[in-house]
Amino acid sequence: MASFLRAARRARPAYARSIVHTSRSAPIGSYRQYASAASAVASEGGEQSFFPDEPASPMIQTAIPGPKSTQAIERLSKVFDTRSLNMMADYSKSYGNYIADLDGNVLLDVYAQIASIPVGYNNPSLLLAATSPEMASAIINRPALGNFPQHDWADILETGILSVAPTGLDQVFTGQSGSDANELAYKAAFMWKRQKQRGGHHVDFTHEEISSSMVNSSPGAPQLSILSFASAFHGRLFGSLSTTRSKPIHKLDIPAFDWPRAPFPALKYPLDQFAAENAAEEQRCLDETERLIKEWHLPPAAVIVEPIQSEGGDNHASPNFFRGLREITKKHDILFIVDEVQTGVGATGKFWAHEHWGLQTPPDMVTFSKKAQTAGYYYGNNELRPNKPYRQFNTWMGDPARAILFRAIIQEVERLDLVQSTAATGNYLYDGLARLSQQYPNEINNLRGQGQGTFIAWDSPRRDEILKKAKGVGVNIGGSGETAVRLRPMLIFQKHHADMLLERLEKIFKS
Ligand SMILES: Cc1ncc(COP(=O)(O)O)c(C=O)c1O
Repeated sequence: MASFLRAARRARPAYARSIVHTSRSAPIGSYRQYASAASAVASEGGEQSFFPDEPASPMIQTAIPGPKSTQAIERLSKVFDTRSLNMMADYSKSYGNYIADLDGNVLLDVYAQIASIPVGYNNPSLLLAATSPEMASAIINRPALGNFPQHDWADILETGILSVAPTGLDQVFTGQSGSDANELAYKAAFMWKRQKQRGGHHVDFTHEEISSSMVNSSPGAPQLSILSFASAFHGRLFGSLSTTRSKPIHKLDIPAFDWPRAPFPALKYPLDQFAAENAAEEQRCLDETERLIKEWHLPPAAVIVEPIQSEGGDNHASPNFFRGLREITKKHDILFIVDEVQTGVGATGKFWAHEHWGLQTPPDMVTFSKKAQTAGYYYGNNELRPNKPYRQFNTWMGDPARAILFRAIIQEVERLDLVQSTAATGNYLYDGLARLSQQYPNEINNLRGQGQGTFIAWDSPRRDEILKKAKGVGVNIGGSGETAVRLRPMLIFQKHHADMLLERLEKIFKS
C-alpha cells in the first residue's frame, strides 16, 4: 500500500486544475483527467479502480486484536472507556476502502465508521482540502458564526452544503452532530407552531408566556411533542433521545419527554410475495400515526422519520408509506422532518434517500450529518426562522472547517460520479446476496435494500458470530438492531470489492 501522502502529492497538480468550482450538474467528463490520474489500474472485471493504490485484497496477519493492538487497548483503557471498542485502528495505514490496525491486519471496511466515511480513508482530494490555507484559517480562527461569521461563509455554503440541498429547501442551519441537527430541527418546529398559534411572526410573547418559560411550565414551555416511530433512532442528546426508540440501553436512567410513538411498518420479505399484506401493514401504521396526532395529550408539532430505520435494525417502508406521512402532516398542519443523518449523501443510490419517494411537496426539514462530516438541517420556509434573533443560537452554530470538508466531499462525489456508481454497485451486490440467500437460506433472512444502492441488510440467526468471523477473513462489518447484518460501505466501494465481500461471506457461511 502506497503512503497516502505520496498519493496526495501525485494527485495535487491535476486536482489543482480541476478544483475550479464544480456544481452538482457539472459534467463528470471535465474532471476525468484527475480521475484517470488517480484511477489508472483496472481490476479483473475491467472496472477502473477509484483507488488504484489500495491493497488488492484484505490481509490478515494475526488474530484481531493482535498483540500490539491488545497493548494499545490496555493502555487506552486506563484513561478512556474502551468497552464499546470494536477495533483499534491505525489511520495512517488505512487507505480507500481498507482499514488497518497496528498488527499489520488490513480489512475491507463495509462499516466505515458507522456509515460516516464517504470517499475513502486518506482520500487525496480531501487531504488537499484539509491542508489548504483556507482550512488552516477555518481551524485556528474558528468563528462564532451567529455573531462573527467569516466573510466567505455564504460562498462556502452555496458552493458546498447548499449545492446539494434537497429540492425545495434552500436554507440551512448548521450544527455539530446528527443528534444536534435533530434537536435544532425540533426547536425550529416548536417555535414555528407556537408562532402560528399566537397569530403570526409579529405577535409578541405575553407576560404569562415569558414568566412561565422561566419555571419550565406552560404556556411559555408549551405542552407540545414530536412524534417518532417504534425502533427509530434520532440521537442520544436529551431531546433527541426522547424520539429514539431503538434500544433501552440508550435510554435507561435518562428523564424523557412524554412524546408519542407510532408503529413503524414491519414488512415481510420477499416484498413481491407479500405485497397486499405489506400494504395493509403500512396503512395500519399510517392510521395509528394519524390517530396519535389527533389524540395525544401533548399535540405533536412535527413527525420525524428515517427513510430507512438504521440503528433500529434496517427497517424499510415503501415510498407510498412516506407519501402518506407527508399527506397526514400537511392535513394536520404539522411539520415533516426527514432524518437523513445515516441515509444521506449517496449511499442509497440517490444523494438523499427521500428522493426515492416521489413526494408532491418537499419535507419541511431534512437533517444531515455522518458522511457530510458536518451537520444541520435544510429548510425552505422562511417561517421556520424564529421571529427573533438568539432563539436558535449557540456559540459555534456549525464549523466552517467541516463545511469546507463537505464541499470537498461533494466535489469528489461529482468528479467520480459516486452516487451513480453506488446505485450500480448496490444492484450488483444485492443480486450476489440474493444468490447467496438461495444457497444458504438459513444464513440470510429478509434480505432488504433492493434498489437502495449499497444500503443493504439482512437478518441472521447468528449475527454476532458472523460479524466476529468476518474480521477473521478480513472484512469489517457492522450490525443493527438485534439480528441485522448491515452493510454501509463507502461510496467508493466497487464491484470488485463486492466480489471480495461475497466470497468471504460464503466462506463464513460454510464454516
Ligand atoms: C438516523 C440517525 N439520526 C441521528 C443519529 C445521531 O447522530 P450522532 O451520533 O452524530 O449524534 C444517528 C446516528 O447513528 C442516526 O443514524
